[in-house]
Amino acid sequence: MGPIILAIESSCDDTAAAVIQNGTILSNVVANQEVHQKWGGVVPELASRAHMANIIPTVDLALKQAEIEKSQLQAIAFTQGPGLLGSLLVGTCFAKGFAQSLDIPLIPVNHMKAHILAHFIDDPKPNFPFLCLTVSGGHTQIVLVEDHAKMTVIGETLDDAAGEAFDKAAKIMGLPYPGGPLVDKYAQEGDERAFDFAKSRVPDLSFSFSGIKTSILYFLKKRMAEDPEFIDKNLKDLCASIQRNIVEMLTDKLVKATKKTGIKEVAIAGGVSANSELRKQLGIFGKNRGWNTYIPKFEYCTDNAAMIAITAHYKYLAGDFGDLTTVPMARMKI
Ligand code: KG4
Ligand code: ZN
Repeated sequence: MGPIILAIESSCDDTAAAVIQNGTILSNVVANQEVHQKWGGVVPELASRAHMANIIPTVDLALKQAEIEKSQLQAIAFTQGPGLLGSLLVGTCFAKGFAQSLDIPLIPVNHMKAHILAHFIDDPKPNFPFLCLTVSGGHTQIVLVEDHAKMTVIGETLDDAAGEAFDKAAKIMGLPYPGGPLVDKYAQEGDERAFDFAKSRVPDLSFSFSGIKTSILYFLKKRMAEDPEFIDKNLKDLCASIQRNIVEMLTDKLVKATKKTGIKEVAIAGGVSANSELRKQLGIFGKNRGWNTYIPKFEYCTDNAAMIAITAHYKYLAGDFGDLTTVPMARMKI
């Protein structure tokens, strides 16, 4: 029988806990933090405080739903980084205290690796080596995944992340934070060819989203000066067009990466992999180009602790543990 592990995720603005037994997720609890909405983005100090308030009830609920007693746990896993330092500290300190009191090992987990390994929670699982486009609020990377531990970033953004591009575009249009899911929602009924925006051209497998953000900003300033109701009248078309542009930038580079590596196992991960147009386009590219594509379940796209738990499962099997000297790392690399 494989290990029973409690996993904690607290890198940004979601407090999450999950229990895994022998590679099977028994519970997966996420407490979202509403406090950030009125500020139009995550406020680090408020996030840390909310983690402090949420962490014990979230862990309690995860254990209860899994029907697992504390005494049955064999390791405590936590997100070591990357993320907001104050947020990471709450999860790290809680994990250390809990593991020490139960006299069981600690497993520090890299959040970006965990987004990718979320593909190993359910079937079908990707075959190694595979490429993963990891797109979240803080990262945009193409990762070459050779096994559960060996991963290499072969392309990444030079400035904003794809999720940030969605959120900033949404903010310019007056939508609340986080705007990504709302752009997706309004885009469903819009014309994706209604508008076009200038994209930055960056070489090879790099991404850049600052150009499109500026292009949207100037375009809307000009149109709003002509007609103050321009955004309201065209919201759906704007959302659909912005979404198409961002998704095109992502799929362009993914095609390049498959050509460069010759790999046809292709996955997407991270919060933006919940985007319906990206999911649809990946399916189309897969069909047309003979790729095997892997799209995570919605609950495993945005931040969650099940992905930390599955990563910890493989680390446990490999004997890869941390200890009380392990510290959180805000800028941790893959
Ligand atoms: O992975 P995640 O939950 O947190 C980070 O690690 O950053 O990703 C959050 C990001 C946000 O920028 C959010 O707007 C974006 O994912 N997002 C979406 C969608 N759902 C979440 N962007 C576009 N379409 C969506 N459906
Ligand atoms: Zn994330």
